Amino acid sequence: MKRVFSGVQPTGNLHIGNYLGALKQFVELQDEAECFYCVVDQHAITLPQDPKELREHNLDIAALYMAVGIDPSKSSIFIQSEVQAHAALSWVLTCSSYTGELSRMTQFKDKAKGKESAPTGLFTYPLLMAADILLYDADIVPVGNDQKQHIELTRDLAIRINNRFDKKVFVVPEGRFMREGTRVMALDEPTKKMSKSAENPHSRISLLDEDSKIKKSIMKATTDSEAIVRYDIENKPGISNLMDIYGAFSGKTHEEIEKMYDGHGYGDFKKDLVEVAIDGIRPIREKFNEIRKSQELLSALDQGRERAQTIADKTLKRVYETFGLGRK
Ligand code: TYM
Repeated sequence: MKRVFSGVQPTGNLHIGNYLGALKQFVELQDEAECFYCVVDQHAITLPQDPKELREHNLDIAALYMAVGIDPSKSSIFIQSEVQAHAALSWVLTCSSYTGELSRMTQFKDKAKGKESAPTGLFTYPLLMAADILLYDADIVPVGNDQKQHIELTRDLAIRINNRFDKKVFVVPEGRFMREGTRVMALDEPTKKMSKSAENPHSRISLLDEDSKIKKSIMKATTDSEAIVRYDIENKPGISNLMDIYGAFSGKTHEEIEKMYDGHGYGDFKKDLVEVAIDGIRPIREKFNEIRKSQELLSALDQGRERAQTIADKTLKRVYETFGLGRK
């Protein structure tokens, strides 16, 4: 059976980009593979977090995992900082990496932009992510397209270390990216990706948004003046993004959507998109509200931690032996 690993940062409520880009795949994969889904709180502290809020967010994300359909009896759900081996392996990988390759990471370049000195954690963040993945001998990593470069680095590190010791220290993982080949873009600025941290709340649709907020955000979404529902990422990024969202929630192709709205303006299309999105999100929100208060959530996290720890400790032991750390 193949092994799957993925993670989400507890830096706020998840939006439909996280859902359509990653979480939907998490759910699909759990019937064909052994899955580990992590709340990566050590990644979150690369930027300052309110400690009380961070702990709440850890539980929020775990509850959202369950609300979208991850079943803790099939998949392991756990919190990164509760398994010590992540930080430990990350150091070993740090010592097998180069500053040049880390400086090329576009996410680091974006976040550090214009600053003379950036937080070191932002710079070494991809090594912690590589440790997450390699610790579990993961074959498949379902993520959004924005993580492609980090997956490439993880593969490079695994291959480099395997070659150095001339044995299979690590499984070389593969990324599994969102089907549409795109990422979900911000509703107000469709050339930027939808993000948890953008200032304008109408730039995103959160999985916990009320129906009225979903409606408002979609109706306000930036389009263009042509008023023809046609897929064209280059020239019509706004409507193309909305068509991607429509397609991802309804299963309809771009061609089908274009046909449905032939001769209609953006108003009709947006009104229907509101319905499609609300139908997709409402059940998640309702389930979240149930699970977040339940004992079931805490039991799932205990069980997940135990399963994760067993595998992670074994990998770390193998790596320490390979590098000659500690003693027999
Ligand atoms: P994070 O927390 O930013 O996002 C979680 C997942 O959602 C995807 N995503 C998107 N997909 C489509 N459109 C968007 N606008 C969008 N925004 C986010 C992300 O690609 C991701 O799959 N570095 C990771 C977390 C991580 C991780 C890992 C992932 C840490 N260790 C190991 C996989 C394996 C991150 O910051 O994701």
